[in-house]
Amino acid sequence: MSTQKSERRRPLISGNWKMNHNHFEAIQTIQKLAYALNPEDYDHVDVSVHPPFTDLRSVQTVIQADDVPVALGAQNCHWETSGAFTGEISPAMLAKLDVSYVIVGHSERRELFGETDEMVNRKVDSVLAAGMTPILCVGETLDERQAGRAEAKVAGQIEASLAGVKAEMVAAMVIAYEPIWAIGTGETATSADAQQMCAYIRSLVLAKWGSGAAESVRIQYGGSVKPSNAPELMSRPDIDGALVGGASLVADDFARIVNYRLYQA
Ligand code: 13P
Repeated sequence: MSTQKSERRRPLISGNWKMNHNHFEAIQTIQKLAYALNPEDYDHVDVSVHPPFTDLRSVQTVIQADDVPVALGAQNCHWETSGAFTGEISPAMLAKLDVSYVIVGHSERRELFGETDEMVNRKVDSVLAAGMTPILCVGETLDERQAGRAEAKVAGQIEASLAGVKAEMVAAMVIAYEPIWAIGTGETATSADAQQMCAYIRSLVLAKWGSGAAESVRIQYGGSVKPSNAPELMSRPDIDGALVGGASLVADDFARIVNYRLYQA
């Protein structure tokens, strides 16, 4: 299923800072980003930044004080509200800091920290219950792609990570297709391959949650998105945004990605 991008799906450009920038550097980066973007740059896109937990309060303060139209995001959370979970952060704590989006099930969480689809499913539920929007990450390894198992892997992740989630919730959330082989490698999926998988994800949503959810769910592409490739990726009908790692650490580069429209042929 391939649909035209509609006003129902405002593109979302998100910067995942991963474990980079202490809180001083974070303040500088959000201030530089605010300076690099003009008010009209936000007319057609939503923008979020996802600093490390230790930076959230600092970035929130800048966003509020300077009225910056950038949404605050987190990179992970636990599924419980409070309790004896040493080292964890709850959705309620994030919501209290005006966090709007929470990345859930990033491949680095899955591969390096043993997150399972079941854990990701609980996190999706708890983020939604706290009134925030999950950005659910899915994607295949290079081996899986070469073995022709990319779609099966992604379908399994969607099925398991969104088990029990209602259609109106799926409609309001964000799914990020991030092929693992393209993350931090400088290798980007071709825009045709990225479009194909994003359209496939939308077809899965259509089959399970219906046309309302399929039309509204925003599907981002992530994996070595840069100012140079963002315009073409974003021209594809089923790619509704980008989840940007490395290039989001530099305010001017991220601002150029947010402004991809200005560079489209
Ligand atoms: P890079 O843009 O550095 O490849 O990272 C992508 C990513 O993992 C975003 O979540």
